[in-house]
Amino acid sequence: MHNGLTVLGIETSCDETAVAVVGDWPQPTIHANLIRSQLVEHAPYGGVVPEIAARAHLDHLDGLVVGALAEAGIAFDRLDGIAAAAGPGLIGGLIVGSMAAKGLAWAAGKPFLAVNHLEAHALAARLAHEVAFPYLLLLVSGGHSQLLVCAGVGQYRQLGTSRDDAAGEAFDKTAKLLGLGYPGGPALERAAQGGDPSRFVLPRPLRGREGCDFSFSGLKTAVRQVIAGHGPFGPDAVADLAASVELAICDTLIDRTANALRWFCRHYPEGNSLVAAGGVAANGRLRARLAALAASAGLAFVAPPPALCTDNGAMIAWAGLERLRLGLVDGLDAPVRPRWPLDEAAATASADLS
Ligand code: KG4
Ligand code: ZN
Repeated sequence: MHNGLTVLGIETSCDETAVAVVGDWPQPTIHANLIRSQLVEHAPYGGVVPEIAARAHLDHLDGLVVGALAEAGIAFDRLDGIAAAAGPGLIGGLIVGSMAAKGLAWAAGKPFLAVNHLEAHALAARLAHEVAFPYLLLLVSGGHSQLLVCAGVGQYRQLGTSRDDAAGEAFDKTAKLLGLGYPGGPALERAAQGGDPSRFVLPRPLRGREGCDFSFSGLKTAVRQVIAGHGPFGPDAVADLAASVELAICDTLIDRTANALRWFCRHYPEGNSLVAAGGVAANGRLRARLAALAASAGLAFVAPPPALCTDNGAMIAWAGLERLRLGLVDGLDAPVRPRWPLDEAAATASADLS
């Protein structure tokens, strides 16, 4: 009898320790998906401290592996593979997760899968929904803003990327200026509710220009100037500025994605989906705007549920499973990679979008 594949996935690339068990039979299924945030450890420092992150992963990973298997009700020897995020990310955490996965794989005689964290975001939509290759992907997280064509597992073509801050950083940095705490994206989204997005005029860098690159660093400066020139900021002004920031970021992302969509429809007429992934894709306003954009081009819009957009173990397990299905397993000597672009060629040259 066919039981499909079942894979354990470990995510430790930043400040979440996450472990999940997913299967693909009879359809993609999350058997367990545990996550422990390190927010409390890093809060006193106002950002992620790599050494503290690595130690916290070390302290909690074993317990989460045991917990995930118990919750899944799946015995260790029934797993078909062990996957870990091997990059990009903070090297200490990557080593902790990768070494744990390699140890487990070696002890149990199972294949090890070194997963690219960005590929895991890119494929998460296929865990949550039926979406076929090729698709256009807007990948927006705390460290990356990219537009990519996903032509198949391991086959990515970058159409554009951020020239400075990532979209998530734009949320985090402006939220910090507004005193909204970290992570800024969800805090800013909450603060923006009921705010007037037209009250403050903020820049939309690169809007209307050719190409699919992003730029966000000017936004942070503009927000700082608005705050400095405004005097005391009451709750209404905070809501209005938060809404104005959210709208400016969404406008920029939509403008660039529209260019990519036109290019994608011309070059991949068989493609029928626009997919969003990464933590910023949890944003409600952005999701609504992307859905409308996709509909205007006759494409489906697909985004994983918010908990699968932000970092999680299920996406690592799923990417491992997709790779295992194709026989793309890794040796126990596979390195961790603090930098690991999805499209290596584009990372060293600017994309030719002719
Ligand atoms: O994918 P992710 O969890 O981690 C990275 O790989 O970076 O993304 C985290 C980023 C943070 O910058 C966070 O502020 C942002 O995603 N984010 C959001 C929302 N939820 C998380 N940004 C806007 N709206 C949200 N609801
Ligand atoms: Zn991520």
